[in-house]
Amino acid sequence: MGGIPGMDGEPVVVERVAGTGGELVLRRAGEHLEIIGNGVFLMDTRNGESERLLVRAAVAGLRAPVRLLIGGLGVGFSLAEALLLPQVAQVTVVERERAVIGWHRTLLCPWSRGALDDPRVTLEHADLLDVVADPATGPFDALCLDIDNGPDWTVTPDNARLYGPEGLELLAARLTHRGVLAVWSANTAPRFEALLRERFARVEARRVPVPRGEPDIVYLAREALPAAGLTPA
Ligand SMILES: C[S@@+](CC[C@H](N)C(=O)[O-])C[C@H]1O[C@@H](n2cnc3c(N)ncnc32)[C@H](O)[C@@H]1O
Repeated sequence: MGGIPGMDGEPVVVERVAGTGGELVLRRAGEHLEIIGNGVFLMDTRNGESERLLVRAAVAGLRAPVRLLIGGLGVGFSLAEALLLPQVAQVTVVERERAVIGWHRTLLCPWSRGALDDPRVTLEHADLLDVVADPATGPFDALCLDIDNGPDWTVTPDNARLYGPEGLELLAARLTHRGVLAVWSANTAPRFEALLRERFARVEARRVPVPRGEPDIVYLAREALPAAGLTPA
């Protein structure tokens, strides 16, 4: 007996488009949706615990009003969580894929809960690396970054620049003095953590158990140190 395609758990393609960072696919598996970018499984609607923690942990302890940047819209778990936090006054969301943004007007809307229409939210359809390289960006009290499966598992090779010394330099420059950098990873990234410790005085790796496989990791970095070669004023 044939059921409705995609409603029996076997993933079916709902839409396949050419994206900025390679082919982008939205799939349905049972009641859930999955996003695959450039052949990399990026996000689905099943869990979202660590994507919510990314925002909650970054904002914890910050007094209102908090200005937040979220890098990567995905299925919208991080964004929806940010809007539940009372101290969050403004959220800038940066997403480079037009199709992902469009899916939040249709199939993904239940997961982002209409967040793109919230007056606190500004959506930038742009590449996060260009946004953080722009000196006019920010500063933000929290940068919550989840554009890849982690510093060592990027969706496109260009994204890797974000996690190197130059990328961290740009990110540190986009933070307020009380600012927090939060980075999501599907696994531990020891080289990245070492770089964070060179650039920030307080670094922490939160492990979030997942139903299968290695725990997700949320890296939190606070108190940017003076950039190498610069003496504090
Ligand atoms: C893992 S998902 C984000 C998951 C999100 N935290 C959530 O709660 O659903 C990664 C998202 O980042 C986007 N992305 C990837 N590279 C990007 C870049 N360089 N600039 C902006 N967005 C990017 C992808 O299109 C995708 O929507």
